[in-house]
Amino acid sequence: MGIRLLKIASVYFLLAIILGMFMSITHQFNYAPSHAHIGLLGWTSLALAGIIYHLFPDAARNKLATSHFWLHNIGLPIMMIGLLVFETGKTAFEPVIAIGATLTSLGVVLFVINVLLNVKSNP
Ligand code: HEM
Ligand code: HEM
Repeated sequence: MGIRLLKIASVYFLLAIILGMFMSITHQFNYAPSHAHIGLLGWTSLALAGIIYHLFPDAARNKLATSHFWLHNIGLPIMMIGLLVFETGKTAFEPVIAIGATLTSLGVVLFVINVLLNVKSNP
């Protein structure tokens, strides 16, 4: 679980810098929110979760972790695709962002519960 998340996170890192370079070169700064969240919810948050799951296997082997994994990894692409299309001016895509953000946020809530319950110092 931890290693899989680190690999997924690194792909988001690549996507974030590609979009950052694209915005910089074309001066289309309207994409800043999707760029920021691909970087922060994709690369940074998933990499941190991956490191935590790797360091604390008890937190990685339960239903909270599995549910977080799928909610985050299904919700975030929906949220980011919705946001990117929204940023092109198609404001009708706002509900897509909301659905993706809700799934991602639910995943994060489960992640937090999991960390509070199952991340413990070694006896
Ligand atoms: C080569 C890599 C990158 C380039 C060229 C780049 C470029 C940019 C540009 C052009 C903006 C818009 C600035 C503006 O509108 O004022 C921006 C904003 C932002 N970038 Fe990047 N970026 C890069 C990597 C990253 C990464 C890896 C992250 C996160 C892990 C990140 C997080 C952010 C955030 C949070 C903002 C919004 C800042 C704000 O609201 O003022 N960027 N970036
Ligand atoms: C589902 C979760 C999240 C939602 C729905 C969300 C939503 C938003 C919204 C609506 C904005 C304002 C965008 C604008 O006015 O341009 C924003 C900005 C921002 N958020 Fe989030 N956010 C989420 C998670 C996060 C996380 C986890 C981080 C950091 C680790 C983060 C960092 C930022 C930053 C740096 C900005 C300013 C970026 C900019 O100006 O474009 N967000 N977020």
